Amino acid sequence: MEGREIVRVEDLWVSYEESLFGFLGKTKHVVVKGVSFSVNRNESFGLIGASGSGKTTILKALLGLVKPFRGEIYIEGEKLYYDGKIKVDVLRKIGFVPQDPFSSVDPRMKIMDIIGEPLIIKGLSKRVVQQAVENVLELVRLDKQIANKYPHQLSGGMLQRVAIARALITKPRLMLLDEPTSHLDVVTQSEILALLKDLKEMFGYSYIMVSHDLNVVSYISNRIGVLLNGYLIEEGPTKNIVEKPLHPYTKILVESSKFKSVAEPMYSTIGCPINPICPWARDICKKHMPPPTALNGSIVRCWYYLDYTQR
Ligand SMILES: Nc1ncnc2c1ncn2[C@@H]1O[C@H](COP(=O)(O)OP(=O)(O)O)[C@@H](O)[C@H]1O
Ligand code: SF4
Ligand SMILES: [Mg+2]
Repeated sequence: MEGREIVRVEDLWVSYEESLFGFLGKTKHVVVKGVSFSVNRNESFGLIGASGSGKTTILKALLGLVKPFRGEIYIEGEKLYYDGKIKVDVLRKIGFVPQDPFSSVDPRMKIMDIIGEPLIIKGLSKRVVQQAVENVLELVRLDKQIANKYPHQLSGGMLQRVAIARALITKPRLMLLDEPTSHLDVVTQSEILALLKDLKEMFGYSYIMVSHDLNVVSYISNRIGVLLNGYLIEEGPTKNIVEKPLHPYTKILVESSKFKSVAEPMYSTIGCPINPICPWARDICKKHMPPPTALNGSIVRCWYYLDYTQR
């Protein structure tokens, strides 16, 4: 099993500094709280949670864009952070499709240069880059003629394929996808998901895909992790999460996914975040976050199951 592991995240904690009315100095806002999971080769891990639950921050930590204050990340067994610094050769194994891929590119750049940029930066020749761009365009099923077009000439779905091609061009071992279909219509969304699934099955890519939509992550993921206010409160095989959710919050997500709405309960900052609305809540839930407990092939963080496994 060890050799198949592409990424392992161990007890990850991330915070942002926040200014308190300027003169009061800065305070630490902890947004990722002891998150652990791993993804094997050719597997897809879906991270689901409401807006602000810490999904993008976990991806940023995997890309070295925010530095965790505790925990480790291993890519193919190698530490991503060494002595507090990101290891660039390990980082190169990761490809990224950001949530809004075209907000950061120059609209006057041709698709050829947008997709080829990661290789141009590496100093590869124009001919090699051109060939590589044509190859990845074929992978994402786009006509190579679009290489000469500009972003505004393409549809949303085509642009998303371009973003995927740009991430694929460096031949990453792990792809991170931040809400890759959230701004697409339903038909285009399912086309992109089918493409990602095919790429995974044909070429053995591994993904971490972030979404607030359980229907999106469950289509493509082998395993799913559920984030609640920075805590990974349940993690397990997709079938377990969708058909036999353990945690009350996962149950809410599964129910609401049938109605295409996102559950956003009132959070408590002390103890379990959903203790004010949880029908199973008891005194300890108001004071302490439960530790992870293994149950039926999943991991769950809920006092109810901790007692249950110790019965
Ligand atoms: N650069 C930042 N500075 C300060 N706070 C941030 C920053 N980015 C995100 N946050 C806060 O961190 C929390 C998690 O954000 P994020 O990871 O973007 O969540 P998600 O992707 O699940 O919507 C939110 O409360 C958000 O407001
Ligand atoms: S820890 Fe307590 S409040 Fe939280 S989900 Fe479990 S029973 Fe409910
Ligand atoms: Mg986000």
